[in-house]
Amino acid sequence: MSSWSPNSWRAKPASHLPSYPDPAALEAAEARLRALPPLVTAGEADALKRSLGAVAEGRAFLLQGGDCAESFQEFSADLIRDTFRLILQMAFVLTFAGGKPVVKVGRIAGQFAKPRSTPTETRNGETLPSYLGDIVNDTAFDAASRAPDPERLIRAYAQASASLNLLRALAGGGYADLNNIHGWTLDFVAGSPAAARYRELADKITESLAFMAALNITPENHPELRRVDVFTSHEALLLPYEEALTRVDPVTGQQYAASAHMVWIGERTRQIGGAHVEYARGIANPIGVKCGPTLAPDELLRLIDALNPANEPGRLTLIGRFGADKAASRLPELMAATKREGRAVVWSSDPMHGNTFTAGNGFKTRPFDRIASELETFIEVARAEGVHPGGVHLEMTGQNVTECLGGARALSEAELSDRYQTSCDPRLNADQALELAFRIAEALKGVQAGERARRVG
Ligand code: PEP
Ligand code: CO
Repeated sequence: MSSWSPNSWRAKPASHLPSYPDPAALEAAEARLRALPPLVTAGEADALKRSLGAVAEGRAFLLQGGDCAESFQEFSADLIRDTFRLILQMAFVLTFAGGKPVVKVGRIAGQFAKPRSTPTETRNGETLPSYLGDIVNDTAFDAASRAPDPERLIRAYAQASASLNLLRALAGGGYADLNNIHGWTLDFVAGSPAAARYRELADKITESLAFMAALNITPENHPELRRVDVFTSHEALLLPYEEALTRVDPVTGQQYAASAHMVWIGERTRQIGGAHVEYARGIANPIGVKCGPTLAPDELLRLIDALNPANEPGRLTLIGRFGADKAASRLPELMAATKREGRAVVWSSDPMHGNTFTAGNGFKTRPFDRIASELETFIEVARAEGVHPGGVHLEMTGQNVTECLGGARALSEAELSDRYQTSCDPRLNADQALELAFRIAEALKGVQAGERARRVG
């Protein structure tokens, strides 16, 4: 493999990168980012890699989720806190079901840049650059708003930094205390069937905590009962931003993406020999790759060779995103290939991106049933192939949005317009996400029963 540096991607073919009208202004913004503190440290990224190593070995489960695209406009402490507590609730449901620790990773504090199906958009005869995420340009359809603006790199960094600051405070400052488990329920979820099931589970935990307190095991003398680790992640799409935030770990001399603990390569930019794979291969963070229906097993193995040549567990997470109708036919040979070749990878499932369609009224949406179905297929295929169904990757929000169809409240097409707030893809609302956590929990319990039966038999 040729030598690597944070800018070696520049010599490779790069797709989905904006063309900035003022390259000097872009360079100036990059220089400013290079002088700013890292958002995360090498030690934190290593801690996540160790946790994901446990996932790769079947001893833990990965929950990764958050917005499709974070927005400058829709940004508040409430949004971050609500996503955080949804992650806590879901993780709690999944831990209880699987009896395994759940590694919590947000699509948050940096998930700004978006690949689009076409570089330009035409309305009423006028053609402008597509909206590429708030870190690049603005959604408004006029020439000034759509021009890529390097100042947005700095603003994205600032927003990511503020988000991380709050997340760290919530994770470590007592909010995540297990004694608050009832308090994490979001008001609008309170009346739903998922919330009723959640309260039942939470009651059991509260009883156990009382029992443990009688044995003098309390959050005061066992801090792990009152704090959690939450990590950040985003698609490493906008390489000028990633390069400018790459930092050397002074202890080991290794290079890290300091923009997030984990970054992933999207379905549209995973070409071997392309710029995005080139950037990702040289950083020491845990990384992900989206695996869609066109990926062949030998190509996947070559990607793994490029991205995880040392076969380090926790380094690489494969995120399948096929669509409910294709998962059963595409996933088995990919899982069989990694198993046969002894590749220590995490297998995770993104049941969102293969299940999007445009409803009759023009809203881009996803049906809850198809999302749940792709996840169940993922778990079944993993079981059949003898692979650990290691995690899920979801687009979701703690807000009461109406973007995905179905769920226990049977959200209809006519209701999509009520609170359709995403700046890119449709997200599960908190109610739907919690319900999905129970569905995953049930499917995983089936896997565990199978594992126990194999051990006994
Ligand atoms: C995404 O995760 O928002 C995304 C664009 O996914 P994919 O690369 O799988 O299409
Ligand atoms: Co998306």
